[in-house]
Amino acid sequence: MDRAHFGVIGAGQMGNGIAQVAAAAGLKVLMSDIKEEFTDKGRAMIAKNLGRLVDKGKMEQGEADTILDRVTTTVSLEDMKDVDFVVEAAVEREDLKFKIFRDLDEICAPHVILSTNTSSIPIGRIAAQTARPDKVIGMHFMNPVPVMKLVEVIRGLATSEETFATTWDLCLKFGKTPAEANDFPGFIANRILMPMINEAIFCLYQSVGKAEDIDTVMKLGMNHPMGPLALADLIGLDTCLAIMETLYDGFKDSKYRPCPLLRKYVESGWLGRKSGRGFYDYSS
Ligand code: CAA
Repeated sequence: MDRAHFGVIGAGQMGNGIAQVAAAAGLKVLMSDIKEEFTDKGRAMIAKNLGRLVDKGKMEQGEADTILDRVTTTVSLEDMKDVDFVVEAAVEREDLKFKIFRDLDEICAPHVILSTNTSSIPIGRIAAQTARPDKVIGMHFMNPVPVMKLVEVIRGLATSEETFATTWDLCLKFGKTPAEANDFPGFIANRILMPMINEAIFCLYQSVGKAEDIDTVMKLGMNHPMGPLALADLIGLDTCLAIMETLYDGFKDSKYRPCPLLRKYVESGWLGRKSGRGFYDYSS
């Protein structure tokens, strides 16, 4: 599908990153969101990231322009009727994703693979919303998408070998390294990462340490590129909470109980970098 249309649902931090890597790999990309304000912001973010590469001398301006030209946007899901492959990267809410997949199943041609960038919602549950569960798969990119090498490729129970192979090859085409996971809550990445972040939040909640000290311990003590609280702010605290809820609901095991402080922050609109305030202040 070299020159084919690649559909991305959602122009937020994951969606625009995925659109950028697909366009950089030579695909024509159609990126959708519910408001023009969001698609404009997503496209501007791609332009900014490409501009950074040009400034650093890692890319010619002409190449950056060509990549950006490959990305078109829409606020109508109906426009996905001509795409050959879809990645859904909407907000991490089950009801929302279910509706998108029901709609995409109606809109897209029968051969089209419908993948989801969900960070923890079971692929089988999403696939069951469609009449093509064999063509539904998890394609879980990491944030920031243009920088992070990994894509977790998750098989649902009904995912076909052909769907898996096409998705795997696409990851390679994007210059990413895929890793295979099976369909259990949180898959591999968030099954391991999110309880660590949640535990760091418990340390803050119980005054074991200040945010800066908790992050310093993990950065300098364990050689993590950033501390767990700074990483939570980057991921988005609403997403972190949604993932912990999925783990907790999915396993019914108290070890996945979301920290009350995380819930309090989310309820107060402190969502991390995107809202200007999380465990750290990004307002200035
Ligand atoms: N978009 C594009 N490029 C970015 C970027 C962004 N948002 N943020 C940083 N970069 C680029 C920089 O331009 C820089 O590029 P060069 O090497 O070409 O100069 C490079 O990344 C390194 O950036 P910095 O020097 O500014 O800072 P850094 O060395 O501290 O790296 C980081 C920043 C890559 C974010 C690094 O701190 C890191 O790897 N952090 C951990 C990220 C992580 O764990 N991500 C996974 C989150 S979990 C997830 O996404 C899944 C989920 O479901 C929740």
